[in-house]
Amino acid sequence: MNESFKKKILCIGAGYVGGPTMAMIAHKCPQYKVTVVDINPDRINEWNSENLPIYEPGLYEIVKSSRGKNLFFHTDVKKGIQESDIIFVSVNTPTKTFGVGAGMAADLQYWEKTARQILECSQSPKIIVEKSTLPVKTALAMERILSSADSGIHFEVLSNPEFLAEGTAVKDLENPDRVLIGSSLTESGLKARDELVEIYENWVPRKQIITSNIWSSELSKLVANAFLAQRISSINAISDLCEKTDADVSEVANAIGMDSRIGDRFLKASVGFGGSCFKKDILNLVYLCRNYGLTEVADYWESVVRINEYQKKRFVLNMLKAMFNTLADKKICLLGFAFKADTGDTRETPALYIANKLLEENAKLVISDPKALKNAKKDLKEAKGDISYVEDPYQAAKGCHAIAILTEWALYTELDYRKIYDSMEKPAFLFDGRNIVSHQEIYEIGFNVYPIGKPALKHF
Ligand code: NAD
Ligand code: UGA
Repeated sequence: MNESFKKKILCIGAGYVGGPTMAMIAHKCPQYKVTVVDINPDRINEWNSENLPIYEPGLYEIVKSSRGKNLFFHTDVKKGIQESDIIFVSVNTPTKTFGVGAGMAADLQYWEKTARQILECSQSPKIIVEKSTLPVKTALAMERILSSADSGIHFEVLSNPEFLAEGTAVKDLENPDRVLIGSSLTESGLKARDELVEIYENWVPRKQIITSNIWSSELSKLVANAFLAQRISSINAISDLCEKTDADVSEVANAIGMDSRIGDRFLKASVGFGGSCFKKDILNLVYLCRNYGLTEVADYWESVVRINEYQKKRFVLNMLKAMFNTLADKKICLLGFAFKADTGDTRETPALYIANKLLEENAKLVISDPKALKNAKKDLKEAKGDISYVEDPYQAAKGCHAIAILTEWALYTELDYRKIYDSMEKPAFLFDGRNIVSHQEIYEIGFNVYPIGKPALKHF
């Protein structure tokens, strides 16, 4: 082993965050040795192969540039801990499904197991970096566990939440709006903070590396996701009103987004937000607020999730109503199953809710997606009904009564919709859950078109 590395970094958890973030650190900092460990050997094997476990544009290139040089993936967590100076913890923190706080609070069992394992295996002082999204005050629990053994080893806990979005992870990591580092304000806390700053300074301008107290940092991550999701629920709520009043939600979004105080991003009305984090992090925030007795604050943030559920439900009801109040035995093509474009991830995807509801109406489903069919099959394993999976969108739509666009893949904007129309049952319907196709053109081909937050274009 090359012992000339400046520092040894370990990341526990080789998921959507651990893998890409560590690949970027290794790529930008050849002087550091970066090791990523996971308890899931299949995931590690994939990280060591040509078929990475996650699809992310540009990721393979940066992994390949460092793998085997200063970037390593393996399953030996103990050895990884022993060797490292700095440990990032990037394990999953899903919503708790059992006991107190079920359905709301974060399930911290994976995170706590890593804390205990770090304590058990360490023989030298270490900096522990919370990369996972955690409830505010978790660092206190982390510190208590790490100082419980009286081993004399000092662990300094930092919070360094990750703000990357899937589908743009490489771009976001390479050019982050900011990097946030929270630390305790003691001498050792500030020293550890500076060591982490030094890593990011290899490619992020210093003014974009912001530091704060550790609780602000933990809370900022939950609040950032809550604000982003809130914008989507806000515009989705307005999309409902637009459909009733013949206003056009894209025109409204454009008009308000040009106000620089509002800004134009994250104002795309849709079938609802998905992904592993928005719902879980808001519920986590809501749970925290309730715990502190802040009922009104909790209710306010919970409404963001409620509107999202309503938007998905409304989409299915609109389909049912438009198609003469019966979907039984009708074939419906779902274009897109991933929760957003440029990822194969289907966690909390609105498409799953919609698929299940359509199956309850006895519709037959043909599901198409360029990257997410493997996950779609897993998600619908238990579902009862007639479901087929067809990657080619033309084949998928053939013989269908309706198409529902559920993911904003660029390829769906470029399809030959006349060819598709000709191969479908008539009257043919198109429900655009992402407002990505040209509705007037598609209407002129012969489709009955139902966008989100715009008047429907119908031939009857
Ligand atoms: P993930 O499920 O893809 O990855 C977590 C990995 O941790 C899994 O591979 C799991 O096997 C591993 N793991 C669990 N316990 C372990 C242990 N004791 N030892 C070793 N490995 C262990 O999750 P993710 O999407 O990467 O999210 C991780 C954290 O980052 C979460 O807290 C999430 O909220 C946060 N986050 C996610 C994103 C995102 O885009 N997915 C973005 C920002 C923050
Ligand atoms: C989100 C945040 O954007 C990241 O900053 C954060 O790090 C991450 O969550 C996390 O903590 O996991 P991500 O969920 O990967 O990232 O993707 P987004 O681009 O935020 O999209 C989330 C959902 O909102 C998708 O379903 C997307 O289609 C939807 N969306 C987004 C809209 O419906 N309208 C929009 O205008 C934008």
